[in-house]
Amino acid sequence: MADLISNLAGITSPNPFWLASAPPTNSGYQVQRAFEAGWGGAVWKTLGEPIMNSTSRFAALHFNGKRVAGFNNIELISDRPLDVNLREIADTKKRFPNHAIVASLMVEPKQEKWHEIVKRVEAVGVDGLELNFGCPHGMAERGMGSASGQVPALVEQQTAWVKEVATTPVIVKLTPNITDITATAEAAAQGGADAISLINTINSLAGVDIDTWQTIPNVDGLGTHGGYCGPAVKPIALHMLGDCARHPNVDIPISGIGGIATWQDAVQFLLMGASNVQVCTAAMHHGFRIVEDLLDGLSAYLEEKGLASVQDLVGQSVHRYSEWGNLNLNHQVVARINQDVCINCNKCHISCEDTAHQCIGRYTDENGAPYLKVDEDECVGCNLCSIVCPVEGAIAMVPKPNGLPPMSWNERQAAIAND
Ligand SMILES: Cc1cc2nc3c(=O)[nH]c(=O)nc-3n(C[C@H](O)[C@H](O)[C@H](O)COP(=O)(O)O)c2cc1C
Ligand code: SF4
Ligand code: SF4
Repeated sequence: MADLISNLAGITSPNPFWLASAPPTNSGYQVQRAFEAGWGGAVWKTLGEPIMNSTSRFAALHFNGKRVAGFNNIELISDRPLDVNLREIADTKKRFPNHAIVASLMVEPKQEKWHEIVKRVEAVGVDGLELNFGCPHGMAERGMGSASGQVPALVEQQTAWVKEVATTPVIVKLTPNITDITATAEAAAQGGADAISLINTINSLAGVDIDTWQTIPNVDGLGTHGGYCGPAVKPIALHMLGDCARHPNVDIPISGIGGIATWQDAVQFLLMGASNVQVCTAAMHHGFRIVEDLLDGLSAYLEEKGLASVQDLVGQSVHRYSEWGNLNLNHQVVARINQDVCINCNKCHISCEDTAHQCIGRYTDENGAPYLKVDEDECVGCNLCSIVCPVEGAIAMVPKPNGLPPMSWNERQAAIAND
């Protein structure tokens, strides 16, 4: 059986599946149950100064019959007393010495505040620290969370303060609410971070009730922006992960977070450079036991690929993620319809005719039966028809060799300049 042990900047865990800092890691009771269920690590619900939470704090986007395609929250950090959390962390670590327990921290951007909390949580035996520079609501209005995390200088400064006293690995959790996440990733590395994690939640408003005209969620008639997560954010997280993983100045390990719900999602994050993954919404939606599928699926996948360890996957796709200017513009694919499985629903014809390049024709064969065919000379290979087709395998995007040598935009511009 393949080795699932994961190592993030020296923090080891029996497998790469950690619960992200959020309601599932709110207490010792929950984290211990999660470890019993099979999770390899947990980032404790963010600790800091005492706060108060609002009621009515979650909302979800249900899309086309699928519940919780996206999840929105206006919850703040832990509302439990710090000493209670610390006692439970110590107890959990004693019971599960081989599992990873990371303390998520958020305090005011002051050196003495960071020093104090780091010393207190390390005294109870945590395996690492995660600095929460990501939370986009509530705490940000008080200068913490993403308010700090959007300013590279503040990320670097606060990371450096933590590193002055920390004896365990320091992970900096980044906010996606920024134009270029590599700027803060670089700042974290510059400040001495041992790893980064991403993404935290994305600024959002879940909806407006069209009967009452209230925001969703609302607290006694007033709404506020919340943090968006769950399956809908996965492509955004994956892009930010890839950008950081291939950045030459972000040469530290990454913990991947954002919309991971299946073992396939996890594999994609590992391939795109994550050393491990963290999960929140999927656990909130389906419970701790989803980890069984995650573990079974990942083990079987590694076996099928003939890989000995989960480490063998990490970063394997990073070099395939590049700038648009490096893409081969002479590469050509076209759509081809498999008449054996096509059900003649016409969806591909409508999409191509109305919104693409008008190259799927409708015909009638010698028996009077309708069929559709792609005019391959006109097809620009945009993939739209294969995306809208409801039948698996009915449309394949196939290479159409054109005899031209590979040429990217950058190569083309360079050739023109040298002429
Ligand atoms: C209700 C809720 C509370 C959260 N609280 C925290 C928190 O205290 N600290 C933190 O770093 N992230 C917090 N997060 C963000 C998650 O840790 C995670 O980064 C985000 O949800 C993306 O992962 P997902 O798509 O698997 O949910 C919270 C998320 C949710 C849904
Ligand atoms: S790939 Fe695009 S252009 Fe080609 S047939 Fe499909 S929709 Fe039309
Ligand atoms: S969308 Fe798919 S199934 Fe429908 S007509 Fe086109 S190829 Fe056939």
